[in-house]
Amino acid sequence: MYKKQQKQLTEQPASWLVTGVAGFIGSNLLETLLKLNQQVVGLDNFSTGFQHNLDEVKTNVTAQQWDAFRFVEGDIRDVETCHGACKDMDYVLHQAALGSVPRSIEDPLTTNANNINGFLNMLVAARDAKVRRFVYAASSSTYGDHPGLPKVEEKTGKPLSPYAVTKLVNELYAEVFARTYGFETIGLRYFNIFGKRQDPDGAYAAVIPKWFGGLLEKETVFINGDGETSRDFCFIDNCVQANILAATATDSEAANQVYNVAFGERTTLTSLYDLIREKVAARFPAVAEAQPVYRDFRAGDVRHSLADISKAQKMLGYNPEYSIRDGLNEASEWYLQHFA
Ligand SMILES: NC(=O)c1ccc[n+]([C@@H]2O[C@H](COP(=O)([O-])OP(=O)(O)OC[C@H]3O[C@@H](n4cnc5c(N)ncnc54)[C@H](O)[C@@H]3O)[C@@H](O)[C@H]2O)c1
Repeated sequence: MYKKQQKQLTEQPASWLVTGVAGFIGSNLLETLLKLNQQVVGLDNFSTGFQHNLDEVKTNVTAQQWDAFRFVEGDIRDVETCHGACKDMDYVLHQAALGSVPRSIEDPLTTNANNINGFLNMLVAARDAKVRRFVYAASSSTYGDHPGLPKVEEKTGKPLSPYAVTKLVNELYAEVFARTYGFETIGLRYFNIFGKRQDPDGAYAAVIPKWFGGLLEKETVFINGDGETSRDFCFIDNCVQANILAATATDSEAANQVYNVAFGERTTLTSLYDLIREKVAARFPAVAEAQPVYRDFRAGDVRHSLADISKAQKMLGYNPEYSIRDGLNEASEWYLQHFA
């Protein structure tokens, strides 16, 4: 299915708006779209994204492909900026948001302004511009305190953090826009996406880049809790695939839905640490002796996370090509190249 959609896009290029384009997921979407010879507009305010992510994409595509990209530096909290960016777009892949559960606990107002007001501005602008489909980054945090495993889209619990509230509200707004304006949206509930260009620095870094960075810098690596907390880690290329399939799915039943985007396998934090240490130790043998330090559980974190991905498989033809091991192989090359 993915190969077919890619071929069709190459034959009939479309216009895409990627918000959050200077971030981790956004810049990977940009790279794939440009390699498929699409026209791309990217919007970002560099709050957690970087010019160097865009510069790296430039080096990975041809000059002609890069010419098909237009960057707009701006903020989704400004509705006029959103209107301008959505003009003449076929598809919107909305990634811009403030990630991180702890950040949202420390500063719920800023997370709310970016993730809810900004989201609503983007919905209004995309609806007014009559884009064909609005695909947005939802989150596994929406499962909240629901104990069921694996997570199925219909069974959610109460949110455990302000961040999770914002992602739930996004889904509610998207559903209401479908119902009241006949506007087509698809929400992708990402489960711990990882891969190249995910930032290892800063207080709110995600666990995989942080541990690669920590082991490479010979710093202490902390594991929150007893190490048995588990996640469904999903390599970035699987996530990019899901976005392209969601935007271009022609089955009308596929629209106005939310889908889990994951690999469908659970890895504990201790096993993850071992896998990352193994990768770094292959280059720096002394790292094989490194041991993590276990500390308190973190507020707002869910204990276990594992996705049922059958809905995306069935409705979108999603077929994740990279297991966690495959993904870590790819990611480790990038981290070793950039941070060793
Ligand atoms: N990475 C994951 O595992 C994961 C999991 C679940 C959901 N998500 C969601 O996926 C999306 C992308 O996440 P990411 O990991 O690439 O994070 P990221 O921080 O690397 O990217 C987010 C980008 O959005 C930009 N941005 C933030 N607020 C903005 C604003 N007001 N106006 C314009 N640009 C703004 C940032 O500068 C950054 O470039 C987010 O919506 C996030 O909540 C990510």
